Amino acid sequence: MLNDTTLAVVGCQWGDEGKGKISDFLAGQVDVVVRYNGGPNAGHTIVVENETFKLHHLPCGVLYPGKINILGNGMVLDALTLEDELAGLKRRGIIVQKLFISDRAHLILPYHRRQDSLEEEKRGSAKIGTTLRGIGPAYQDKIARRGIRAGELRDAQRLKEKIAAFLSEKNELFARYYSAETMTMPEIEEGYLPAAYRLLPYIADTALLLAGHLERGEKVLFEGAQGAMLDIDYGTYPYVTSSGTMTGSVCSGAGIPPGKVGTILGVGKAYTTRVGAGPFPTEIEGKTAEYIRERGREFGTTTGRPRRIGWLDGVALRQACRLNGVQHLALTLFDVLGGVGSIKIATAYRCRDGSVTEHFPADQHILEEITPIYREFAGWDEDISRCGNINDLPRAALDYIKGVEETAGAPVSLLSVGPRRDQTIWRL
Ligand code: GDP
Ligand code: IMO
Ligand code: MG
Repeated sequence: MLNDTTLAVVGCQWGDEGKGKISDFLAGQVDVVVRYNGGPNAGHTIVVENETFKLHHLPCGVLYPGKINILGNGMVLDALTLEDELAGLKRRGIIVQKLFISDRAHLILPYHRRQDSLEEEKRGSAKIGTTLRGIGPAYQDKIARRGIRAGELRDAQRLKEKIAAFLSEKNELFARYYSAETMTMPEIEEGYLPAAYRLLPYIADTALLLAGHLERGEKVLFEGAQGAMLDIDYGTYPYVTSSGTMTGSVCSGAGIPPGKVGTILGVGKAYTTRVGAGPFPTEIEGKTAEYIRERGREFGTTTGRPRRIGWLDGVALRQACRLNGVQHLALTLFDVLGGVGSIKIATAYRCRDGSVTEHFPADQHILEEITPIYREFAGWDEDISRCGNINDLPRAALDYIKGVEETAGAPVSLLSVGPRRDQTIWRL
């Protein structure tokens, strides 16, 4: 799989597919790991032997000595959270040395977090269920050309003036539109900027660095955050995140040309979860959902919220594979399905007018009215979490994998049967 110089790992559902686990599993074979989208809305859980790490900004390469880790320009960064993350690792004996932050990455400022909460409150029953990390407002400001980029930390005086001007605009918004408390400059200057300035030694033109690594033939892994169905364009808009989450964003978010994206690995759970509000055609409730939630420990890494549970949505997965150009699928949390009884994959949707579609509709109102058409598979009761070889799997599990491949239109080349590195099976 790593014959190519670069490998992109992308989520093919609504996030939390196990991208962290799969990226970490593969990162041993690369020199550089790059995050190119999102920010601390991401929560990537990685289990190394008996230790569990939860990464939000940092690429999984930080868990290996000597790897180069890059936070690309497509990310939005919260200096306070990032500092906490680095400190948390340090407490556990991991000193992150080779870290580079793009001077073009945007900063999440304290007013972005406040704005995120106020926007959510205002939405009332149409709440998106964001992570409240300030992601949406930071990307809004980036697009509106009033963002603050990491490189601007190099000129403290100019930065202060800029933030003061933006803050007065935000305060008008907070006070007039939301009738909420305003924020003071000292809150930002004392509570936030010192942490941001401590990031200065890491700040660089990371696209230039990356070009050098690629020229020298070094291997690079692009660790995606979120998933295809949370993509700003192709996700279940408006119940999405505020950035591109697919392979296309590797180029714009890391600063490499399209021809440099080598292997594309999509990650999908053996079922589906979603955290936050919005359409979820294959959602299930009741005993089976509870069983999967408990067995898969389906509680948000970032917010601790219980994740919504559903059957594998083949329609969504097929779209994700097509749009991302997925060449290999990593099917994760496969062990969780043991003992669940018969298992379903949605292969098409029946619309309200009786018509059938195999494609994911753009309109959320249509999505709310469709009924999935399922293909049913026999389940298995064996514990497969110790299987080290594909041939050790029960017949029913192999049939299910075949069903996933047929529905998704991509081969399952990696199978994950547990959170640890050694619970991963190659199937090439
Ligand atoms: P990410 O955001 O895509 O990196 O995924 P998360 O880390 O948010 O959620 C995936 C969860 O499943 C984490 O708790 C992982 O430790 C866990 N996990 C990953 N792969 C497997 C697997 O194959 N089996 C089980 N049981 N857990 C897994
Ligand atoms: P990883 O990388 C799952 C969801 C939020 C919400 C929506 C918008 O761990 O897969 P935002 O805070 O981004 O404005 O929230 O997107 N969301 C995620 N769900 N995994 C993630 O990241 C997510 N990042 C954002 O729950 O529904
Ligand atoms: Mg996650």
